[in-house]
Amino acid sequence: MLTNYLALNIDQLVSKVTEHGFCVMDDFVTPANTLALSNEITLLNDHLQMQEAGTGRAHNIINNQLRGDVIYWLNESHPTLAQQAYFSQMEILRASLNQHLYLGLFALESHLALYTAGTGYKKHIDRFKVSSKYPTNQPVRQISCILYLNQDWLAENGGELRLYLNSADETMYVAPIDRLSLDISPLGGRLVVFLSDTFYHEVLPATQDRKSLTGWFLTR
Ligand code: OGA
Ligand code: MN
Repeated sequence: MLTNYLALNIDQLVSKVTEHGFCVMDDFVTPANTLALSNEITLLNDHLQMQEAGTGRAHNIINNQLRGDVIYWLNESHPTLAQQAYFSQMEILRASLNQHLYLGLFALESHLALYTAGTGYKKHIDRFKVSSKYPTNQPVRQISCILYLNQDWLAENGGELRLYLNSADETMYVAPIDRLSLDISPLGGRLVVFLSDTFYHEVLPATQDRKSLTGWFLTR
């Protein structure tokens, strides 16, 4: 049953994340705010304010073969109106996730992202399982949330998020879904949420510019 991972509201979203480790919700933000955020990316890019995205623990390794997007980190203390709407939705989500999953999510870091046509992001995981080699009590990414901003995206434009469901953690085998990966089209207003240390994923190249707002809830 492939619609099992779709949620109609934040309550459903949280219970599906609890059950399966991931979830997809359409119309998480209004079309007007989706468009406003999309326009912000266009403007930032025109003014050369987007930076090449890094990889690695300190996000300081630029490797265009691995990841081809340009990004802009949001500053929660100086939001635009559309960002404010996004942040307040995310705050509701954070509170609800904490209530149900007891994760102690205390902050959000988020960036706008632009993948120009033909670029993508190779298979990766947003956080490696906690290792004793690294100091504890550091903020780490616990939940990945990707909001898509292309209003009239067509399936044939590509650019899917490929989410690998055969995670290392067998309890997260997402029982109702009998396939190993799921391709999620980046439709404007759609939010994808998944556990950062559980799901490998990749961004497939698109035929058009692909815009998104990625957020990570942090824990210690
Ligand atoms: C990321 C990422 C996926 C997407 O930014 O780490 O995997 O669909 N993004 O944009
Ligand atoms: Mn990622």
